[in-house]
Order: sequence, then C-alpha cells, then structure tokens
Amino acid sequence: MTHRVRGVIARSKGAPVETTTILVPDPGPGEALVKVQACGVCHTDLHYREGGINDEFPFLLGHEAAGVVESVGPDVTSVAPGDFVVLNWRAVCGTCRACRRGRPWYCFATHNATQPMTLEDGTPLSPALGIGSFAEKTLVAAGQCTKVDPAASPAAAGLLGCGVMAGLGAALNTGGVGRGDSVAVIGCGGVGNAAVAGARLAGASKIIAVDLDDRKLEWARGLGATHTVNGGTEDVVKAIQALTDGNGADVVIDAVGRPETYRQAFYARDLAGTVVLVGVPTPEMKLELPLLDVFGRGGALKSSWYGDCLPERDFPVLVDLYLQGRLDLDAFVSETIPLDGVEAAFARMERGEVLRSVVEFP
Ligand SMILES: NC(=O)c1ccc[n+]([C@@H]2O[C@H](COP(=O)([O-])OP(=O)(O)OC[C@H]3O[C@@H](n4cnc5c(N)ncnc54)[C@H](O)[C@@H]3O)[C@@H](O)[C@H]2O)c1
Ligand SMILES: [Zn+2]
Ligand SMILES: [Zn+2]
Repeated sequence: MTHRVRGVIARSKGAPVETTTILVPDPGPGEALVKVQACGVCHTDLHYREGGINDEFPFLLGHEAAGVVESVGPDVTSVAPGDFVVLNWRAVCGTCRACRRGRPWYCFATHNATQPMTLEDGTPLSPALGIGSFAEKTLVAAGQCTKVDPAASPAAAGLLGCGVMAGLGAALNTGGVGRGDSVAVIGCGGVGNAAVAGARLAGASKIIAVDLDDRKLEWARGLGATHTVNGGTEDVVKAIQALTDGNGADVVIDAVGRPETYRQAFYARDLAGTVVLVGVPTPEMKLELPLLDVFGRGGALKSSWYGDCLPERDFPVLVDLYLQGRLDLDAFVSETIPLDGVEAAFARMERGEVLRSVVEFP
C-alpha cells in the first residue's frame, strides 16, 4: 500500500518551499512508517533549500521530529506500532570501523530507509538528513526511531532529534563539562542555548553566554547562563577572562562556526582548556593561528557532530530529565505553526526572532 500525504518540499535551488502531495510506501525490511506529530524548523532545512548541502533536488524537508510508529517491516523488532518515538539521523550500523572500535557515535555508515518516498509522478524525493518529516507520515530505517516516554510533548521531544541534542551534547559529551567547570558559549541560538542548558545539567559553576543579540542573551539567562556578554559591544576574550579571574573558561563552545568566533573561543579558554566547535562553517572560511599558541595553550580542540550523541543512550534520559522539570525543552519552542508555515518560519529564523518554530500536525 502507498500512503498519499502532504509534505513540504524544496523543488529547486532558492525557490520557496511548497506543500504538496507525496507518496510514502509501506515499510519494507528494516524500515518503519511514522505518523509525524511535530517537527522543528532547523537552519539545515534552509541550507538544503538554498542548495548548500547538495544538488539532489527535490528535497523532502524536516528532520527534528517526534511521532508514533504506524507500521514496521517484517523483520523489525526494535519498535512496534503505537510506540512514541523521536527520529534521529544516527542509526548506527554496528560494523563500520568506528563502530567496531567501540565509538559508534562516529558511525560512518548510518542507516536510512531504502525505499524512496516520491512525488505523485514518481520523482524520488531526497529526505533531509535521511528523515524528511515535514510530512504527515515519513518512512525511515527502524533504527532512526528512538522510543521515549510518551508523556513528553511531541514538539519539545522532537527537538532532541537535531539542534538541541547537538548543543546539549557539545557540552555533555564532546566538551565533557563537569561539576565546577567554567563554560562559555559563543552564539546562543537553538544550538548554543542548548549548550548552556547542557552546561547547567553537568553542574558547571559559571556559564557565560555570548551573542550579538540581547534577546538571545535573555533566553540564555533563562536556560542557565550566569553571565552574559554582548559580542557586538564588548571584547569577548577580555570579558570572558574578566569573569574567570583573568584565566579564561575551562570549556568554550563555538556555536556559530566562523573564523572570528573560533579565534575568540581559542583565546578565551584557560590554559589546557577545551574548545568545542559545533557551529558549521562554510567552505570558503579559513582560520589562521600562531602554531606556537596552539602548542603553548595546550588542551583540546574538538568538533562536535550531532553532539557526539547516541540516540538510544541519550534521548530517553533527556526526555526523563525534561519530564522531571530538570531540562526545559519547552523553552526552545518559540511558536507552533501549521505545515504550510515553514517558508514564513525560515524568515523569522533569519531575523533571529525564534529559537525554534515547530510544525504541529493535527
Ligand atoms: N554540529 C552539529 O551537529 C550541528 C547540528 C545542528 C546545527 N548545527 C549548527 O549550529 C549552528 C547554530 O545553529 P542554530 O540553530 O543555533 O542557529 P541560529 O541562527 O538560531 O543561532 C546562531 C546564533 O549566533 C549568533 N551569532 C552570529 N554571529 C555571532 C558572533 N559573531 N558572535 C556571537 N554570536 C553570534 C546569532 O545572533 C544567533 O543567536 C549552525 O551553524 C548550525 O548549522 C550544528
Ligand atoms: Zn557504524
Ligand atoms: Zn537540524
């Protein structure tokens, strides 16, 4: 059977997205069909629309989602119809060189559905990050479905599927933030503010939020920042040093991903401290640093892909912390919108008016 549902596609480079009918096949071996309940609007969806990821148009956008499993392929045992799940883009293979060495969060061969979803004329769609969840139903690999407590709001839980997990994990997993650490986060959008929340969860004693926009800094305070620095009016490195007895922070997280913010992160950290790059740079960006400073300041310079998360390990725990009131995922949901509101939500995202707009399905 084929399911005819509505989905949001990017048909060609730079053109506004369209809501249209798409065809979703029944799940085959290793696959699951998910009825989507909520899906956040991420910067990466906009990158796809602009042709910044690859040229495999048309794309079925959306990838920060939660929903209910409707049916599964014949051999699937990890999830069953009726399960409430958060979708992930790290269904680990278990057999690549990273998995075999016990580092599955780097898995180099993650699973996606093998059957294509299509337009009505049969044109295959490229689902964003192998998910494609700005759609009433989507087809994914069963391993992309992570069961979590169904008491959670789909809009909040779905955000763990991408940006919020990336930020939380940048602090908790990649940065290894611990009790008593000082942490600075540069760029406080959805990802950076999640890093602030992650630093609070980990017991950081000082959390310094940096942004150019005072609205973002206000939200950062709500999520756990103990100090804020406006990078447009203050010298970021000096300000962070002044807040840390002249030393710099133990961990500095760059959630912007530009040469100037990386340089700030590099110099605003204490000797032997850690820099985590979670913001994604563009191909033309270059960084120049004195090599003697790279050596002399020691420590670790790390990148964080998807917060080094393991969905099966991390999503259920984070949802439990959310339900206990210890992680405010609702604070990231700035607004809920209908499926045909994605294009307008891109504009609000670009104007910095939201942490996340979330599509809710009736
Ligand atoms: N590593 C990953 O796995 C992963 C996953 C999801 C998103 N990301 C990336 O994380 C980055 C942030 O995503 P987001 O959704 O939070 O974006 P966003 O646009 O919501 O937030 C970016 C924030 O950075 C601030 N900013 C911009 N320039 C700045 C500067 N020079 N100094 C200080 N602040 C500055 C902006 O005011 C804004 O608040 C993006 O590059 C995104 O692609 C990475
Ligand atoms: Zn693997
Ligand atoms: Zn995303």
